Amino acid sequence: MAVLQIVTFPDPALRARCREVTAFDAELVQFLDDMAETMAASEGIGLAANQVGHLHRLYLMDVPVSETERTGLLEIINPKIVAKRGEVRFEEGCLSFPGVYETVIRANEIELHYQDRHGVAHTVVLVGLPAICAQHEYDHLEGITFVDRLSPLKRRVVLRDYERRNRESIEDKQLRAKVKARRQPPQVLS
Ligand code: CO
Repeated sequence: MAVLQIVTFPDPALRARCREVTAFDAELVQFLDDMAETMAASEGIGLAANQVGHLHRLYLMDVPVSETERTGLLEIINPKIVAKRGEVRFEEGCLSFPGVYETVIRANEIELHYQDRHGVAHTVVLVGLPAICAQHEYDHLEGITFVDRLSPLKRRVVLRDYERRNRESIEDKQLRAKVKARRQPPQVLS
């Protein structure tokens, strides 16, 4: 198992429409295990394949449903949302948008068709946070991020702040590297 690198916006993988999984083989099992380790290491509740740069139609979820309970690890391959009911507002975050938390409106209940790692088909009805997470991750597979679900004005403000923070953190790193270089002891020249 390995922890994979999570890509952040504006990586082009986040804009890609992911391809159906057709081979339910050892390579897929290995990838799913690596994804699970990556999601646990980053304390995420969902992770889509293109967030680690693989353009497969699959995502993982492990979502809290109460103070003490979680859904347990769900491996959702080739998902189809076949029904949506109700509406819910929730402040979402995304491992590919560090530091961004914004309220998104989604369906409160969905019916989801998907396959597991063996290729076996399942149908599940999800309500509340598991439904929100499943829709957020499904969007990833379509190349859509949660910031795309905001109003155009809100999106502009969020992206401007995000880009400014990224720029500042790069400049900080460069500054720290400079200071560190200056602290090196003087070179003995002879
Ligand atoms: Co996300």
